[in-house]
Amino acid sequence: MRIALIPGDGIGKDVTAEAVKVIRRVGDVFGRSFDLEMLPYGADYYLETGITLPPNGYKMLRDEFDAIYVGALGDPRIPDMRHGRDILLGTRFELDLYVNHRPVKLLDERLCPLKGRGPADVNMVIFRENTESLYVGIGGRFKAGTEDEIAIQEDVNTFKGVHRIVKHAFEYAKANGLTRVCMADTSNAVTHAHALWQRVFHELTPHYPGIEATHLFIDALCMQMVKNPAQFQVIVTNNIFGDIITDLGAQLQGGLGMAASGNLHPGRTSLFEPVHGSAPKYAGKNVANPVGAILSAALMLDFLGLKREAAAVEAAVKQSVAKVQGTAEIGGTLGTRETGDYIAGAVKDS
Ligand code: IPM
Ligand code: MN
Repeated sequence: MRIALIPGDGIGKDVTAEAVKVIRRVGDVFGRSFDLEMLPYGADYYLETGITLPPNGYKMLRDEFDAIYVGALGDPRIPDMRHGRDILLGTRFELDLYVNHRPVKLLDERLCPLKGRGPADVNMVIFRENTESLYVGIGGRFKAGTEDEIAIQEDVNTFKGVHRIVKHAFEYAKANGLTRVCMADTSNAVTHAHALWQRVFHELTPHYPGIEATHLFIDALCMQMVKNPAQFQVIVTNNIFGDIITDLGAQLQGGLGMAASGNLHPGRTSLFEPVHGSAPKYAGKNVANPVGAILSAALMLDFLGLKREAAAVEAAVKQSVAKVQGTAEIGGTLGTRETGDYIAGAVKDS
C-alpha cells in the first residue's frame, strides 16, 4: 500500500512523525508493508521554490497513491495561505473528496468540558460537504481598499453536491446501525441556496425508514451540541458550517489535538489529516498532542479496508488516554514523541 505523507508546516511535522511510528508498528504487528513516501510540500518548500504543488501534483497524488496523509498547513510568512489553498483545498477539489468525515468521540469523561458528560453522551460523526459552499471562491472584490469596497463570495450548492453528501450520511448511519441523522442548514435566512438542502433531505428521508431524520438550523445545532450532545449520532451540513461545528465538536472530545478527519471520495484516493492547524508557536517543541494525527491514521487504515488494524490503533489511543499517558492536553506529562511511543507500543493484534 502506497501512502503519500505531507507533514506540511509547524506541528504538522511533529505529529506526522508519530502517526508514521504507529503505522509502522501496525505493519510489524499485523505483518503488512506500507510504502510511505515523504513529500516536501508546505511553507518552506513554497518559499524556497515558488511551488505549492508541482503541475502534475494532483494527478500524481491520485494515480500513484492509495491514500494521502497531511499533518497541517499554515505559516505566518504566507498570510494568504496560498500554499495551503493549493495543497489542502486544491486536493479536496481536484480529487473530488466530497465527504469530510469528522468523528466527535469522547474517550474519557475527564476530557469533556461539559459537566457530567461521558463517552456515552459524546459519540457522533459529522459529515461536512467538502467541495462546495463559500469555499469554491467564486466572487471578488470591487474597489478593494476604498470606502466603496464591495466584497462578494457566492455560496455554491448544487443538487449533485448536496445529494451525494446527504446520501452518504444516511448510508453511513444505515451501514453502522445508527438511527438518527440530523441535517443542519440556515434555510430560514439563506432561503435560495439552503432550500436545496431542504429539498434533498426531504427527498432522501423516505428511503431510510429505520432512521429518524431531523433538521436544525445551524445556530440551534450549536446550542444543542453543547446542551445535549447525546441526541446526535450523525450530523450532515455544508462546508462552512461543517468547518465551524467540527471545532466545537473537537472541544467536546477534549480539544483540537484529539480530533481526526478523512477527506473522502469512496473508492478513490482520499486524504486524511488531523483537524488542528499548524500551531507555529508549538512547532518542534515536543508538546503537540499527536492523538488527532494518530486517529486520522486509524481512519485511513479503516478506509483502506484494514478494519482490525484501525480498531487496534483506536484501542491503543484509548488506553493512552485512560492511563493518562499523553501530553498536557489530556492532563499528562509526556511529550509528543513519548506519547507516540506509548501508543505505538500499545498496538496489539487481539
Ligand atoms: C479545516 C481547516 C481548513 C478549512 C482551513 C485551513 C482552510 O480549518 O480543515 O477544518 O477551513 O477547511
Ligand atoms: Mn477548520
